[in-house]
Amino acid sequence: MKTYLITGGAGFIGANFLHYILKRYSDIRIVNLDKLTYSGNLENLKEIEDNPNYTFIQGDICDKELVEKLFKDYNINYVVNFAAESHVDRSIKDPEVFVQTNILGTVNLLNCAKNFWYTEGGFKEGVKFLQVSTDEVYGSLGEKGYFIEGTPIDSHSPYAASKAGSDLMVKAYFDTYKMPMNITRCSNNYGPYQFPEKLIPLLINNCVHHKDLPVYGDGLNIRDWLYVEDHCKAIDMVLQDGRIGEVYNVGGHNERTNIEIVNSIISYLNEKVDKEITKSLIKYVEDRKGHDRRYGIDPSKIKEELGWYPETTFEVGIKNTIQWYLDNQQWMKNVTNGDYQKYYENMYEGV
Ligand code: NAD
Ligand code: DAU
Repeated sequence: MKTYLITGGAGFIGANFLHYILKRYSDIRIVNLDKLTYSGNLENLKEIEDNPNYTFIQGDICDKELVEKLFKDYNINYVVNFAAESHVDRSIKDPEVFVQTNILGTVNLLNCAKNFWYTEGGFKEGVKFLQVSTDEVYGSLGEKGYFIEGTPIDSHSPYAASKAGSDLMVKAYFDTYKMPMNITRCSNNYGPYQFPEKLIPLLINNCVHHKDLPVYGDGLNIRDWLYVEDHCKAIDMVLQDGRIGEVYNVGGHNERTNIEIVNSIISYLNEKVDKEITKSLIKYVEDRKGHDRRYGIDPSKIKEELGWYPETTFEVGIKNTIQWYLDNQQWMKNVTNGDYQKYYENMYEGV
């Protein structure tokens, strides 16, 4: 029976991953370590909180004593590191916490894993550290071409730089100590439980309340969208069968300009709501500083080596997502309480 230390499991992708693997396997134990920052929410995990194979620990991945104790108490085999500060706009305003959690927190996890897994003969059998990373470490593309695993790191935002820093530390633990690891680099995810600071849930929430839809710059920046469950499937496959020491890109050739996303959401939502949502809500606003123009993933490696492919088309995924937010408006109210409004009012102050 393998025991997984999942970090950041109360956030968007982490929670979806926990639902995914607990449905799929009955012979695993999960320890979910999450600090419960503004984007972590135990409501995301209600369905699994009584599962006897699941334990939640509130805590910080930077806390050496706590992480060491978790390795010992639960005899951890796998680490899947989702825990991060994940929002680019916040990193532009306040980069320090990104260095703290994304780089130093990852190094603390790596060190505790190494100390627990390493014996004189080398690393124990059947252990692995999986770092959940992002295509943003590669920087920005022109009109043509895709990110491959060998694309040089050229991160721009403080968020992307902090993720690149943590990826390099994970690689260093492989190159130096032969720590069994993989890194996955995924494109933009969407789906249930995503915090509404990110484009898609923000647009859905604002449409439902007939509020302005902020579009940065000319609205023609391109992102490569992946339904979150397809990302979860990829992480599971890489954890089970990924070649040790390898990086895998994850994406499904679903590029859209931001304005196309806005228009799709308005038109799909209009099939569902009584009061028409009009395009007059679209407001072009000041561009994000250092805004990457285009992301696009070449997923050939994970397809060819592990047989992964995305099962959900954008049309199906976006309809599921919209329906989920319509069915879970109380969730939306709960997560947008507290500091959420204050954050938007002060978003660019002092930048
Ligand atoms: P999220 O912000 O929704 O969740 C992050 C989780 O980490 C939260 O539950 C938060 O409480 C927890 N956390 C933050 N700091 C912590 C700390 N110091 N100790 C313990 N827990 C802490 O983020 P997400 O969108 O689910 O992203 C998860 C991971 O996937 C991140 O590493 C992100 O870089 C990566 N990623 C995200 C996307 C995307 O489109 N969202 C795409 C590719 C990669
Ligand atoms: O590519 C993977 C990355 O995708 C992840 O590593 C990050 O954690 C995740 O946040 C996401 O980063 P982006 O910056 O691409 O996502 P975001 O939802 O913030 O923005 C998507 C695009 O929409 C981007 O071009 C900026 C634009 N945008 C965003 C917001 C919030 C707007 O035009 N208006 C908005 O209000």
